[in-house]
Amino acid sequence: MVHKVRAVIAKEKNAPVSIETILVPDPGPGEALVDILTCGVCHTDLHYKQGGINDDFPFLLGHEATGVISAVGPDVTDLVPGDRVILNWRAVCGECRACKRGEAQYCFNTHNATQKMTLEDGTELSPALGIGAFAEKTLVAAGQCTKVDDDVDPAAVGLLGCGVMAGIGAAINTGEVKRGESVAVIGCGGVGIAAIAGAKLAGATTIIAVDIDDNKVELAKSLGATHGVNSKEQDPVEAIQALTGGNGADVVIEAVGRPETYKQAFYARDLAGRVVLVGVPTPDMKIELPLLDVFGRGGSLKSSWYGDCLPSRDFPMLVSHYKQGNLDLDAFVTERIGLDQIEEAFEKMHEGKVLRSVVEV
Ligand code: APR
Ligand code: ZN
Ligand code: ZN
Repeated sequence: MVHKVRAVIAKEKNAPVSIETILVPDPGPGEALVDILTCGVCHTDLHYKQGGINDDFPFLLGHEATGVISAVGPDVTDLVPGDRVILNWRAVCGECRACKRGEAQYCFNTHNATQKMTLEDGTELSPALGIGAFAEKTLVAAGQCTKVDDDVDPAAVGLLGCGVMAGIGAAINTGEVKRGESVAVIGCGGVGIAAIAGAKLAGATTIIAVDIDDNKVELAKSLGATHGVNSKEQDPVEAIQALTGGNGADVVIEAVGRPETYKQAFYARDLAGRVVLVGVPTPDMKIELPLLDVFGRGGSLKSSWYGDCLPSRDFPMLVSHYKQGNLDLDAFVTERIGLDQIEEAFEKMHEGKVLRSVVEV
């Protein structure tokens, strides 16, 4: 059977998105059909629309979602219709070297649904990050679905599917923040603020929020930062050192993706401190560092990809922290909108007015 549903499509580069009827097939082997409940609006959706990811238009946008399993393929045994799931964009293979050495978060071979969703005229759609969740239903690989408790706000927990997980994971997985440590986060957009929430969850006792925008610094303080630095007014490296007894932070998380902030992150760490890079640079960006500074300070420099998360391990754990009041995911939901308000949500995101607009499908 083919399901006809409403979905948000980016038909061509930079054109406004439109609501179209799409055709979604029943799940085949290894696949799951999901009724979408909510989906956050992420920068990556905007990048798809702008042609910044690739040219495989038309795109079915949306990838930060909670849904309910509607049907599964014949060989899928760990999901049943009615299960509440959070979707992820890295269904791991279980076969590659990373999976076999127990580090599936670095799987070389992630996969998506095999069958294609199409427009009514048969044009194949490219689902954003292999998901495509600004739709009433979507088809994904079963491994892209993680079962979670269903007594929680889907809009809040669905954000774990992308940006919030990237930030929290940068702190708890990549940075391995421990109790009592100091953490500085450079850049307090959605990802940086999530990193602050992650550092707080991990028990960091000094959490320094750095941004060029006072409003962001204030927001970061309301969500767990113990100190704020406006890096337009103060040298952030000096400020971080001053707030950590002259040493620098145990963990510095860069959540901007620019050369100057990469450099600040590098120099703001304590001797043997860990630098975590979560901000994504563009191909032309470069920095120069004296090798003696690289050698002499010890520690580590790691990039963090999707918060180095394992959805099957991290989503249920973070949902349970949310339920126990240790992790305020509600604070990330700035507004709830309909499928027809995504263009306005892109505008607000661009202006830095929201942490997340969440579509209730
Ligand atoms: N120094 C400090 N903060 C800065 C600077 C700077 N030089 N330039 C920009 N910022 C701040 C902005 O004011 C904003 O608060 O960085 C923040 C960036 O936030 P968003 O644009 O909302 O981006 P976000 O979704 O948080 O993603 C940040 O992480 O995953 C990556 O691709 C993502 O590279 C992006 C980064
Ligand atoms: Zn693998
Ligand atoms: Zn995203």
